[in-house]
Amino acid sequence: MVVANWKMNGTLVEARALASAVREKLRRARGVEVVLCPPFTALAAVAEVLAGSSIGLGAQNCHWEASGAYTGEVSPAMLAELGCRLVILGHSERRQHLGEGDALINRKLHAAVAHGLTPLLCVGETAEERRQGLTFHVVEGQLRGGLAGASRDGIVRCMLAYEPVWAIGTGVNATPAQGAEVHGSLRGILSELASKEVAQAVRILYGGSVKPENVAPLLEEPEIDGALVGGASLQADTFIEIVRKSAPRAGSAAKE
Ligand code: PGA
Repeated sequence: MVVANWKMNGTLVEARALASAVREKLRRARGVEVVLCPPFTALAAVAEVLAGSSIGLGAQNCHWEASGAYTGEVSPAMLAELGCRLVILGHSERRQHLGEGDALINRKLHAAVAHGLTPLLCVGETAEERRQGLTFHVVEGQLRGGLAGASRDGIVRCMLAYEPVWAIGTGVNATPAQGAEVHGSLRGILSELASKEVAQAVRILYGGSVKPENVAPLLEEPEIDGALVGGASLQADTFIEIVRKSAPRAGSAAKE
């Protein structure tokens, strides 16, 4: 699975053009589920472009209530109405710049599940935390905090993204071994919180400087189920190359 996080980029005209180019060029790619997450302002336009294709639509955030006096916010019900199937929650940029903590993210996660959206819960350590040997401690806290109170049925409807903060937008990706190690530990916690079956069913994506050059070795790790792509998702050709290189080797139908 490859999820594009466009972040706060793109005018409506640019969003339409990018989504159209991805749709057009992805026709020949098979075996990989693709979801585009444009900014809120472009969701309706991109939904129109993607209608009738197998490419999914996702959002980058949501509120925890279905409606109400929350100026400037967007509810999970509104996203579901637009055809979103997924919502990114707990991205490190929101944790860092908007002060989002695990308790808030947890409320959003419950609301997203209640409205039929798949939460893509992001976790990841900073460079300093990694240096101090706190990586597993940090991601465990974020995972347990984000999923608090979720039932087994709720957890199975979630997806995770391991996004080391030091790898986001820096050009320095985690190595496949570093990714696999953290993904494995997240799966272990899922298995404790829910069950082994649920832990196997929940997809765990890697994010942080994913590029056409590094995606294949990352996804060759059995623990890594896909990629969350930021910067490299803003160019249709680059993004398509990432999708092609993400296709399972055996099902090489994704190659032209
Ligand atoms: P990046 O961002 O691919 O630009 O590093 C990934 C993300 O923040 O989701």
